[in-house]
Amino acid sequence: MYRLANAIFLGLIAIASLAEAQLELAKNYVCTEDFCDNYRESNECDALKTACRAQNATHNGIIFPSATPCSCCKTCVENLQPGDDCSVGGLGYPVPAGICGPGLYCKVAEGDEHPTCQPMLESSKCYTAQKEFDDQRQAGLIGHLMQRPECDGDGNFQPVRCIPGQTCYCVDDNGKRIFGEAVHTASIQISMRCECSRLAAKARTLLNSQYPVLTSRCDSKGSFDQLQCVDDMCVCVDMHSGRPTSDLRNVTRGLSSLPCCKC
Ligand SMILES: *[C@@H]1O[C@H](CO)[C@@H](O)[C@H](O)[C@H]1NC(C)=O
Ligand SMILES: *[C@@H]1O[C@H](CO)[C@@H](O)[C@H](O)[C@H]1NC(C)=O
Repeated sequence: MYRLANAIFLGLIAIASLAEAQLELAKNYVCTEDFCDNYRESNECDALKTACRAQNATHNGIIFPSATPCSCCKTCVENLQPGDDCSVGGLGYPVPAGICGPGLYCKVAEGDEHPTCQPMLESSKCYTAQKEFDDQRQAGLIGHLMQRPECDGDGNFQPVRCIPGQTCYCVDDNGKRIFGEAVHTASIQISMRCECSRLAAKARTLLNSQYPVLTSRCDSKGSFDQLQCVDDMCVCVDMHSGRPTSDLRNVTRGLSSLPCCKC
């Protein structure tokens, strides 16, 4: 009995000193002004691009904390002008070098032409939200994980928003977050379009229901689950349009006759 108590006591001491060691470690990595001063002394930050230094009518940009320890350095994302080449969602690039400036959106061209910045319909909800975001950022009220709303040409909210290097999630027509999420990867915006979760969100709003509304089953990314069933009857559907790709089958004898069944 005595020995057991002793063992427990020693165990507790070990845990306590481990916790203390971790606290010590954490203290060494606290992001203070001093830390950044020292950091910048030994690792020179890249100079801000001309656009962010000028901030005049033709050369302007947004200053972000950069991916340095404690965000001690700053980086400049240039505001692109109408007609400039742009990148849709910055696929594969955590921080794009430039984004379409205020009132512009990145329009995907027909064929294999490069997308360019084009004026978007003003007075739309998304445009207003974007302007509000820019004003708040100017005033320093925006945390660095908050995302600027992305709009299409008609000023509607794009269905997928991504925090670079982290996650992408679905938003509804009003820019509010809805079901559907995935890890941000280079190709995610090709496979993730949130049609299913947008449809489900719309149905819930229209019916103004507190209860689950019977709609198609969505997968975790907000796309249509390729296998849709009501009672015994199942059908395969396209993950983006939700349209049937097989005939309706009675599945009481098993699902294996369905082409989309991974069984
Ligand atoms: C804005 O700043 C850039 C870079 O300093 C300069 O070349 C350009 O002439 C300026 N434009 C205006 C309209 O002041
Ligand atoms: C499906 O098949 C089972 C057995 O063959 C039958 O009992 C059931 O009524 C069928 N369901 C429908 C919806 O036709």
